[in-house]
Parts: sequence; C-alpha cells; structure tokens
Amino acid sequence: TEIATRTASIIQEFKALEGPLLPILHGVQGEFGYVPQEALRVIADELNLSRAEVHGVASFYHDYRKEPGGRHVLKVCQAEACQSMGSDATTARIKQLLGIDFHETAKDGSVTLEPVYCLGLCACSPSAMLDGEVIGRLDNEKIDEIVEAVRS
Ligand code: FES
Repeated sequence: TEIATRTASIIQEFKALEGPLLPILHGVQGEFGYVPQEALRVIADELNLSRAEVHGVASFYHDYRKEPGGRHVLKVCQAEACQSMGSDATTARIKQLLGIDFHETAKDGSVTLEPVYCLGLCACSPSAMLDGEVIGRLDNEKIDEIVEAVRS
C-alpha cells in the first residue's frame, strides 16, 4: 500500500542511525500527520522489533498521534506560570466546550487538543497556541472565540 511504501522509504533514510526508531516515527508523523497502524507494522518488521515494542515507544511519546489530527490544533499551556494564573480552570472549560480531552480529536475532525509546556508567553498567561499562533491572557471571551474559530 501507499502507507507501507512511504514508510519504507522513511525507514531507509534513518535506518543507519544509532537508535533509528524515534527519527523514523518522527518522519512518519511528519509525512502522514499521524502514525498509522500499518506504519508501525512495517517499522517493526524492518527494524526487527516486536510490534509491541514499537507500539510501546509510539504511545509513550504523546507527540505521536494514532489517528489523523484535526483541521486545527489547539495547544493549551500547562506549565507553572500559566497554572498560577488559572490554566486548570481554563483548560477544563476548553475541554468541556470542545467535548474532548488532551490528545483527542473532535469527532467532526475540526480540532485536536494538546497540552504544551510553556509557550514563552508567561507574562501573558494563561496562554495557548492555535495553529501555530500564540494567544495570551485567555479568558472566557477568548475561549469562546477560539471554539467558534475551530468550528467554523
Ligand atoms: Fe505558560 Fe510559560 S508557563 S507560557
């Protein structure tokens, strides 16, 4: 299949490295936007690892997605400065409005929610990042705007 072929060529690129598994997973995620089950199988075969091992590594690192991500990616800062400014409540509200938890994608494919640990925007905490753009001083109004933006 297409996935197997493209995965195989990524493997070729990194196979000679010491500890090639992470660079390969990274390459696969870069190529497909997630790490398909089929790619895990191909990687396990090529590197002579068990499928459980490859799967274990891929799920240990939350950056690797098991399913295609949403059209938008919303990252909400969970680090200290933001926490001290109420990011827990902010995060809870976002999760509730979107109906998903961290590392999940809304059923309509609109948005994937991820935690992030400091966006360098501590002075304007609590903060978030929507599709690569930072948003500071999250309040209810801004959250509503974000939710509306990802749904439209
Ligand atoms: Fe959230 Fe620095 S701790 S931006």
